[in-house]
Amino acid sequence: MVVVAILAAGRGTRMKSHLPKVLHSLGGRSLVERVLESVEPLSPSRRLVIVGYQAEEVKAAMESIPSLEFVEQSVQQGTGHAIQQLLPHLEGYTGDLLVLNGDVPLLRTQTLQHLWQTHQANQNAATILTAHLPNPKGYGRIFCNSENIVQQIVEDKDCTAAQRQNRRINAGVYCFRWQNLAQVLPHLKADNAQREYYLTDAVTQVGKVMAVDVEDYQEILGINDRLQLATAYEILQRRVKEKWMVAGVTLIDPNSITIDDTVELQPDVIIEPQTHLRGNTVIQAGSRIGPGSLIENSQLGENVTVLYSVVKNSIVQAGCQIGPYTHLRGHVQVGAGCRVGNFVELKNTQLGDRTNVAHLSYLGDTTVGTKVNIGAGTITANYDGVKKHRTKIGDRTKTGANSVLVAPITLGDDVYVAAGSTVTEDAPNDSLVIARARQVVKPGWRKKSAEF
Ligand code: UD1
Ligand code: CA
Repeated sequence: MVVVAILAAGRGTRMKSHLPKVLHSLGGRSLVERVLESVEPLSPSRRLVIVGYQAEEVKAAMESIPSLEFVEQSVQQGTGHAIQQLLPHLEGYTGDLLVLNGDVPLLRTQTLQHLWQTHQANQNAATILTAHLPNPKGYGRIFCNSENIVQQIVEDKDCTAAQRQNRRINAGVYCFRWQNLAQVLPHLKADNAQREYYLTDAVTQVGKVMAVDVEDYQEILGINDRLQLATAYEILQRRVKEKWMVAGVTLIDPNSITIDDTVELQPDVIIEPQTHLRGNTVIQAGSRIGPGSLIENSQLGENVTVLYSVVKNSIVQAGCQIGPYTHLRGHVQVGAGCRVGNFVELKNTQLGDRTNVAHLSYLGDTTVGTKVNIGAGTITANYDGVKKHRTKIGDRTKTGANSVLVAPITLGDDVYVAAGSTVTEDAPNDSLVIARARQVVKPGWRKKSAEF
């Protein structure tokens, strides 16, 4: 059995932000959410987040996560002091405690599983994740004997010049046998350079402590400032892109593309430069997205093309051509084989199969049938200044260029709307609607007007 504790009480001064550090976003999710996700597959029996600085804000941001517990550390006197706050909450608990920092968001679940398995297999009192860093500055240094048993952990600030040469560092991720730790915690002392209670001091007092090296040291990168946040984003992006390229997705100029780790892509999808895929987006086989597009929380069927467009919270069926310069603003469903073209904005609108909205249109709150042609510049006037109203357009209907459809309004099947009409009344099936002034031509006009 394992209980997880996440250290998230620190200020994060170096972020220079009004937002608590652990709430900063990394590819769509906050740092602490990512840490929580990494432990989820271990099925922890409890998850305790230690909060302090801007505790209310941190709690509010995570209140939707079920069964998360918050423990307050009202003054931050070090990592050991933070874990001391767990004592009343874990009284009588006899399993393991996994401790993670809220600002280490790139840890892989396999790494944590390996740490925990090693801990149990060797019946350690504590097992500690370590790494060999090219630049270990700022980290606590780990000193082990030849059996990988930890002898000493010395914080960077407390190191002698010789100790500082050691590149093996404490990642800040630990597995403890809680009973052993609970006995040591009350006796920690703050006799160090920072006058803090160090969790690392407890580590060396609990009994047998083993070090486990992380395979890829990038996983343990801690976020202390915006530069490290950007570095973490790069690492995350590299992971995501490698995964999709291996799975059969073509990325053209990968460095100019960003893909959230929540996105799903099928083989033979092609992502062109300057394209950004976000949230719960799914793109099916053979689709070609970009250049220059943003797709967010949307489902795109097979063989869809999207060119220089923005698609949000929408569903696009197979074989559609979207763009250039289309904005699907949300709650849009585009049927199979549609063309939605240049400078077209759709909002809360459904298009039937093989319908075209090819040029310069706005359709809002509109239901459109199949094989409809929405003429260039057709606009739905869906808002009367107070309420939004729906427009319904039947199958095979054609609107002329520059039509205005004043909602609420229904056009039946096979309706033709004359160009330039402002349509305010419903039209039955198989009808022609002309709603504009008749053209007047006055011959000899220039000569007459000159007489005034
Ligand atoms: C800590 C470790 C160091 C390790 C490094 C890895 C100690 C003494 N040192 O150092 O060996 O190499 O992490 O990143 O543990 N926090 C609280 N309450 C506090 C103090 C800190 O919740 O009173 C939280 C912070 O918000 C942060 C985490 O604990 O999430 C680590 O604290 P930080 O001060 O950043 O420790 P480091 O100096 O980085
Ligand atoms: Ca840190």
